[in-house]
Amino acid sequence: MELPTRVSLREVGPRDGLQNEDPVPTAAKIRLLDALSATGVGRIEAVSFVHPKAIPQMADADEVWAGATHRDGVRYSALVPNSTGARRALAAGFRELEVVVSASEAHNQANVNRSVAESLDDIAALIDLVHNDSGPVPATVEVIVSTSFGCPFVGDVEPARVASIVDRVMADGADRIAFGDTTGMATPRRVTDVLEAVRASQPDLDVLLHFHNTRGTALANILIALQYGVTQFDASVGGLGGCPFAPGATGNVATEEVVHMLHDMDIDTGIDLLALIEVARLAQELVGHELPSGVLKAGPRLR
Ligand code: COA
Ligand code: ZN
Repeated sequence: MELPTRVSLREVGPRDGLQNEDPVPTAAKIRLLDALSATGVGRIEAVSFVHPKAIPQMADADEVWAGATHRDGVRYSALVPNSTGARRALAAGFRELEVVVSASEAHNQANVNRSVAESLDDIAALIDLVHNDSGPVPATVEVIVSTSFGCPFVGDVEPARVASIVDRVMADGADRIAFGDTTGMATPRRVTDVLEAVRASQPDLDVLLHFHNTRGTALANILIALQYGVTQFDASVGGLGGCPFAPGATGNVATEEVVHMLHDMDIDTGIDLLALIEVARLAQELVGHELPSGVLKAGPRLR
């Protein structure tokens, strides 16, 4: 079977991971970011610019980003929920933004307090704002379609609905597309269904996939996506994250578990696995509890 020989991983522990942990001090966030920047990872989602009441864990985003080392060769990005967040991210110096909309109406309301149609109109304006107001080399916008593989409130989400959101935001000028498995409802079957539906109208689109390992299917999802030629994935160091409101929820698939599997398949990530495992240990120390990563617990298979 043809598999990619190189995969681009984006580390999301500092944002998706930490937003779902008890708040840690600003200095600890900076330490984690700097340690991750030194592992060889190519992309890091550093912070989000959201309402501090919605996500108090990200209230110090400006301080975190100002204090962190911005390492050459690493692409840093920020997640934003709306144009206010986009302006804050641009002002802080970010060149890659991610804006989120849910495929499920109920989840979109819960997450960003507006309908999907309103979010899509906002996103069109946000894309214009970012492309036009960010200097001679315009900053870019990735649209993350969350709950693409299922919604905790309404259950299954029609892949055709996901595909139509993609068509809309691509027409509005989105630079990149990601699919979020917000609460770990994806399985290989659902991944196939979404990729097929999207490919039908966007055959050449490179997408990024964002899986949570809530039900243990994240690596299986990644494997099937690789078979579909997907080469971009999110992951969080140590499997950092969870959700205070969903008992049993876990974080994103652990970055070191993904790297461990990919390297054994001769798929390059640019990441130093042993260095990354040390960062997972640091992350565990910073949040003060055990993290779920098996590779953190057991080490690589030939250790
Ligand atoms: N950052 C900081 N403040 C913001 C903001 C942002 N990104 N967006 C809006 N605000 C402020 C507004 O300026 C306004 O302030 P004011 O009352 O002093 O005028 C206030 O928040 C209300 O604005 P409004 O547009 O009505 O926002 P809202 O109350 O409907 O909240 C979101 C909408 C999107 C800002 C909020 O739900 C949010 O931040 N959600 C984040 C969700 C998230 O991160 N989920 C996890 C990742 S997917
Ligand atoms: Zn997530």
